[in-house]
Amino acid sequence: MSAAMAAFAFLIVIAIVFPLASAFPSPPVSWGQQQLDPHFYDHSCPQAQQIVASIVGKAHYQDPRMAASLLRLHFHDCFVKGCDASILLDSSATITSEKRSNPNRDSARGFEVIDEIKATLEAACPHTVSCADILALAARDSTVMTGGPGWIVPLGRRDSRGASVQGSNNDIPAPNNTLPTIITKFKLQGLDIVDLVALLGSHTIGDSRCTSFRQRLYNQTGNGLPDFTLDASYAAALRPRCPRSGGDQNLFFLDPVTPFKFDNQYYRNLLAHRGLLSSDEVLLTGGNPATAELVELYAANQDIFFAHFAQSMVKMGNISPLTGGNGEVRTNCRRVNHNY
Ligand code: HEM
Repeated sequence: MSAAMAAFAFLIVIAIVFPLASAFPSPPVSWGQQQLDPHFYDHSCPQAQQIVASIVGKAHYQDPRMAASLLRLHFHDCFVKGCDASILLDSSATITSEKRSNPNRDSARGFEVIDEIKATLEAACPHTVSCADILALAARDSTVMTGGPGWIVPLGRRDSRGASVQGSNNDIPAPNNTLPTIITKFKLQGLDIVDLVALLGSHTIGDSRCTSFRQRLYNQTGNGLPDFTLDASYAAALRPRCPRSGGDQNLFFLDPVTPFKFDNQYYRNLLAHRGLLSSDEVLLTGGNPATAELVELYAANQDIFFAHFAQSMVKMGNISPLTGGNGEVRTNCRRVNHNY
């Protein structure tokens, strides 16, 4: 990418995010005794947010799917032992990486972008900015860069010294979970139905593999009939590249109408029974009037969706952070600093 394009991408983020940061008061967000603070790096690394935004901007320019992948990394981090960058740890003698879990294997991506951000931050302000905070900032910048809302990111998370592949398998909802199971998994994280429906709006960008929704096309485990909540012509269009067997890794847009734009098209797709994953569809047809009403609200009013999404992202980013003397600030996001 040319230097001009990189500068342009960077300026877009700065133009959108930083006016927001000064327009609203930004009190520290508390989680129990511990506090995150949007101004956490104001003195120790004042350029931290600009560095993250510029590298996310460059990555997004080089690969338009990357914004989605970075947004998802923050979610998969926060749902497992809190937002502590546990997802970024590689396997070692003492750690089994969460990258091997069912939700992440052959699916989670963007780790090289986080590495680049971390290396740049270590050069600018050594041992200061945590990997968990990088994930939170990159998720916000990715949303802004694709046309979604901005928000002020509370900061000061520290990084874990361990990972939990079991937590990753159990705590992150699966695409074939029922709506009650999904609601329970969100509730366990302190997130309610508004958070659930708003955050799932992330599926307005990014891709899914065939293996994540194949059962809807053929219902292999049930009566052999396809999922009738999926629009028949959409299902027919999906089948050639997602056959009964094979093609597991073939990619499909989660929102085929505006795949790279963060907007409320995801909810409009749901109303047309063109939500790709079963976990998307059940928001409307899973038997819960509250989730169905929110789908209709967000489909009709993008401003409300954006406002709720921003609030819920802050809430998700506050799941059980390590603060104070807990955890550490890793120098390399893939490894703990020492062997404990
Ligand atoms: C019920 C909850 C959720 C379920 C079951 C779910 C499931 C999935 C699945 C199966 C994929 C495709 C993965 C693949 O096939 O490789 C996916 C992609 C994605 N998810 Fe979710 N998700 C949920 C909630 C969320 C939340 C809360 C966020 C963000 C805040 C999110 C953001 C994304 C993004 C952006 C992608 C596209 C990633 C890419 O293209 O690399 N998801 N999700």
